[in-house]
Amino acid sequence: MIQQTLAIIKPDSVRNNYAGKILSLIVDHGFSIKAIKGVHMDTRDAQRFYGIHTGKPFFDKLVDFITSGPCIAMILEKENAVDDFRKLMGATDPNEAEGGTIRSLFAENKTANAIHGSDSSDNAFIECNFFFSIQERF
Ligand code: CMP
Repeated sequence: MIQQTLAIIKPDSVRNNYAGKILSLIVDHGFSIKAIKGVHMDTRDAQRFYGIHTGKPFFDKLVDFITSGPCIAMILEKENAVDDFRKLMGATDPNEAEGGTIRSLFAENKTANAIHGSDSSDNAFIECNFFFSIQERF
């Protein structure tokens, strides 16, 4: 089934100038970019975006990190996009990420971990709508 997922190239990747290499990997793995823009989230945006993690021990660190600089948000489309993109990202902890995945190549640690991808098709729908209006989609 053709699906869409929401991806975010996180501030560490943007700062380290990895965005171009990450975009190439994404396209080379068969994803079509259906929307893309730069965003610098403020604390309120980040707390809302990561609402399901409210109260977890890493929540404040996560919010501080994601607001620390600009990100690149994208809607990606392909067959089985949600699960396939999570495979391409690799495990949350770069030390556990499989070789060749985005996090194994570019992430620093569990917080500065290079990339975000929706974890379910329901969340993909919510997250794509969080960032993009209909007019911003290709
Ligand atoms: P992301 O896929 O953007 O969604 C939730 C984020 O929480 C995740 O990436 C990690 O950056 C962060 N996260 C999840 N688990 C931990 C953890 N144990 N310690 C620190 N950060 C975490």
